[in-house]
Amino acid sequence: MITKTILSLGAGYVGGPTMAKIAEKCKDVTVYVGDLNQGRINAWNSDQLPVFEPGLDEIVKKCRGKNLHFIVPTEEHYKKADMIFVSVNTPTKSYGEGAGMAADLQYWELAARGIGQYARPGTIIVEKSTVPVKTAEAISVILNSEGVRYPVLSNPEFLAEGTAMKDLENPDRVLIGHEEDEQGRMAAGELKALYARWVPEEKILLTNVWSSELSKLTANAFLAQRVSSINSISALCEKTGASVAEISRAIGTDSRIGAKFLEASVGFGGSCFKKDILNLSYLSAQFGLPEVSEYWHSVVRMNDYQQERFVKQILSEQFNTVAGKKIVILGFAFKPDTNDTRESPAIYVCKRLLEEKAHLAIVDPQALGEAKTDLKGIDENVVYTEDAYAAAEGAHALVILTHWRQFGELDYRKIYSAMKKPAFLFDGRRLLDREKMYEIGFNVYSIGAKPLKKF
Ligand code: NAD
Ligand code: UGA
Repeated sequence: MITKTILSLGAGYVGGPTMAKIAEKCKDVTVYVGDLNQGRINAWNSDQLPVFEPGLDEIVKKCRGKNLHFIVPTEEHYKKADMIFVSVNTPTKSYGEGAGMAADLQYWELAARGIGQYARPGTIIVEKSTVPVKTAEAISVILNSEGVRYPVLSNPEFLAEGTAMKDLENPDRVLIGHEEDEQGRMAAGELKALYARWVPEEKILLTNVWSSELSKLTANAFLAQRVSSINSISALCEKTGASVAEISRAIGTDSRIGAKFLEASVGFGGSCFKKDILNLSYLSAQFGLPEVSEYWHSVVRMNDYQQERFVKQILSEQFNTVAGKKIVILGFAFKPDTNDTRESPAIYVCKRLLEEKAHLAIVDPQALGEAKTDLKGIDENVVYTEDAYAAAEGAHALVILTHWRQFGELDYRKIYSAMKKPAFLFDGRRLLDREKMYEIGFNVYSIGAKPLKKF
């Protein structure tokens, strides 16, 4: 079989960009990106895409209406598809057994049932969502219960937000997990042929389904663990006068350790790290491995600690009260170059400061709409603006929570002169040169370095 028509279920941060890339690279394949959320589909069909990713707009504009279509799926779309990617959300379960830890697979199962109802037998099902190990097996049982066979592949996505289009263009690897029978191998070959249009063959790894599923959780757990590890050291640096930047550089030059993911910060955010580690921890406990479960859970606890530690520092350095004080929040997205705020440390920090009756001016170039949604009902004392200079008027403190490049280019002398004195800077991303900021007049608190105080 040669794949002519693809349906993706889920038009989110993964479904939208990955399908746009496939449409761009495989002009002879018709790609339908489907979502149950009509509003999201309308946005994909408009000039204001629901996902901000550098480079995405151009590709969507080039392919939309040609071989890329954003739709609410109907029976006909399922029937036409030779291959169906499932890129639906798999959040942490908020109810019942495993609440707060396990993955909620209700959207996945709903998607599978739609496939079972309408798709042609033999249609290749591609699990792109991040799921617990053995999900493909469970989905196969649901799909194949009527004696009809659908091969189910695991093809986890490793893109990072903000660099999604680059990651899709030039991935470190593409992982395809397949069943060890004739049909599984054939299906894997079909998916491999699709990626091979632009990814070098040696980067396309074939494994069994369970290794593929568990590799995805493991990759995210290892990445998050590095952030928690360096963050734990940042706390020690602040006490001892060592510099976490110097430590990152010193250990990062060890080729066995490597330089990436050693940026100390106010904590990791994003929709996946926390959920995937909690899921890994839950699975380990379910399989009777409490020590393994506990080990991974500590990565999330360290992240929670880092965020709370940062808030406590603001409070204590503001003479234990921020009530009625204006605080400028520079950055709300969980990282630069995205409008995504899911699990952003900014949500936690802002909520804590609002509980303490602070007045906030939130500045973000892309994520103000999302920030309004996240703080809905508690934002009586919040203003949202793209203008950092206006936000700084009469402010007591600046708090940097996202390392947007734009924030590094602001005129901090001008900002300082607009602020109340003494003026404070809390840099949760180590974005700014602390010595320079201190010279300008700020009291400077930068993650992982001893504070520079004027008094
Ligand atoms: P998202 O919430 O942005 O998008 C998921 C979409 O699926 C939503 O728009 C929802 O309406 C839709 N949906 C739910 N059930 C559906 C159904 N039955 N049929 C059609 N549409 C349905 O989520 P996301 O960030 O794109 O993540 C999707 C999956 O990919 C998750 O499992 C996540 O862990 C994984 N992942 C995400 C990233 C990332 O950077 N966001 C990276 C790698 C992997
Ligand atoms: C992460 C992984 O990097 C992707 O490979 C994976 O596909 C994705 O999760 C997923 O499964 O959703 P993402 O969350 O988009 O991607 O972004 P990252 O660049 O990994 O950053 C995650 C968080 O860690 C951000 O809040 C970032 O600011 C923080 N971080 C990252 C640090 O605090 N320090 C670092 O050194 C690196």
